[in-house]
Amino acid sequence: MITLKKVNEDNYRKVLEIKMPDDQHFVAPNVYSLAQAWVFYEEARPFAIYNDDEVIGFMMLDWDEKEREAGVWRFMIALKHQGKGYGRKAMECAINLIKASNKFDNVFLDYVPENVVAKHLYESLGFVPTGEIEDGEIVMKLAL
Ligand SMILES: CC(C)(COP(=O)(O)OP(=O)(O)OC[C@H]1O[C@@H](n2cnc3c(N)ncnc32)[C@H](O)[C@@H]1OP(=O)(O)O)[C@@H](O)C(=O)NCCC(=O)NCCS
Repeated sequence: MITLKKVNEDNYRKVLEIKMPDDQHFVAPNVYSLAQAWVFYEEARPFAIYNDDEVIGFMMLDWDEKEREAGVWRFMIALKHQGKGYGRKAMECAINLIKASNKFDNVFLDYVPENVVAKHLYESLGFVPTGEIEDGEIVMKLAL
């Protein structure tokens, strides 16, 4: 079963071991994300993605309660676990977590235009383009 667990002292090394191949450099390295999670401590929510007891991915949410806007800041599934439906389930877990908090009206994310897998996944979950492009990335929104 796919679950999200906060990055903690038991799983952070496994998260750091997940590295994207050269043709999938759509996301910053996890060591960079965990540094940002400390710097942006109030909003950053870093999670290890588990399949049962195994860490198979990483996701960092942007938890901006003041603006009632959540974001998917970073998201990756380790290469050997891609294409098995885990990414979709992890995104569904994240959306459910955000909804269940009752603190948000929208979820935002973005992707680089050549990332066709991300585009397909996000569209199929109901995200729609806002029309904005940020640093070359297409911004999408899901109204909750
Ligand atoms: C994007 C990513 C998180 C998706 O995770 P995943 O576990 O591989 O995705 P899933 O297996 O749940 O598949 C999701 C959808 O994409 C499709 N898909 C998956 N891999 C694919 C591939 N290589 N080519 C085409 N479609 C693909 C699946 O068919 C599925 O669609 P469907 O349910 O309509 O059939 C993962 O590929 C990844 O980590 N990529 C590199 C980092 C990245 O791009 N992160 C997102 C930044 S915005």
